[in-house]
Amino acid sequence: MHAWRTLAATCLTALLICTGIQVAGADPSVPDHRTALERDDTANLLAVVTKQRPIHPLDYAPEDLVTWPHTDFELRAEVADQLELMFTAAADDGLAYRVVSGYRSYDTQAGTYEYWARQSGTASADAVSARPGHSEHQTGLAVDLDNTTGECYLKMCFGETTEGRWVAEHAHEFGFVISYPEGTRDITGYAYEPWHIRYVGPQVAGDMNRRGYLLISTYLAPPASSVRLGELLGSHG
Ligand code: DAL
Ligand code: ZN
Repeated sequence: MHAWRTLAATCLTALLICTGIQVAGADPSVPDHRTALERDDTANLLAVVTKQRPIHPLDYAPEDLVTWPHTDFELRAEVADQLELMFTAAADDGLAYRVVSGYRSYDTQAGTYEYWARQSGTASADAVSARPGHSEHQTGLAVDLDNTTGECYLKMCFGETTEGRWVAEHAHEFGFVISYPEGTRDITGYAYEPWHIRYVGPQVAGDMNRRGYLLISTYLAPPASSVRLGELLGSHG
């Protein structure tokens, strides 16, 4: 039985190679990062946290948090290093940013979500705030940014500021992606958040940018149709 299965697998592999057929999602030019997704490893720099994929374990806290200078906010060490590089590059272009949120514990996120739910009800809260155990902020990989005027603090208009546009254009060079880009609410469940970036590393962020992927969840687990989100959404985001 075992030998028969091995023979069948070998024949199938040979058939695919000889006919040039590629299994959907098995493009050999794409680095296979899917193990991170499969392992549910929240400590992985490619951890995927969505409404459907909670933090695991729920009380996870990163072990390598560092405090961002002149703030109380913490980020994972590599994230802070790369953010510093990004801010230096932005400063060369005459732009300045403030970090307005970083790592948030399960309990902090519970308070944040409760605040929004009290303000506007759970349906509205769910569009702008993750439930505890479901926030990228708990991974220590996510950062909320603002410019120095504060006029678009945690508002969609941040995306229209010079600083918001610069981040959208350059974040990938430093390993960041905008987690909730315009036009993706149907997939993420969250409204557009041009200020919320998360770290995936320069190689993956660069590849996502080149290949037109907006969301790390889609990049790591592309739909079977292999339709890319960037193609699907045209110029949005
Ligand atoms: N605002 C994002 C969705 C969060 O709460 O993590
Ligand atoms: Zn955020």
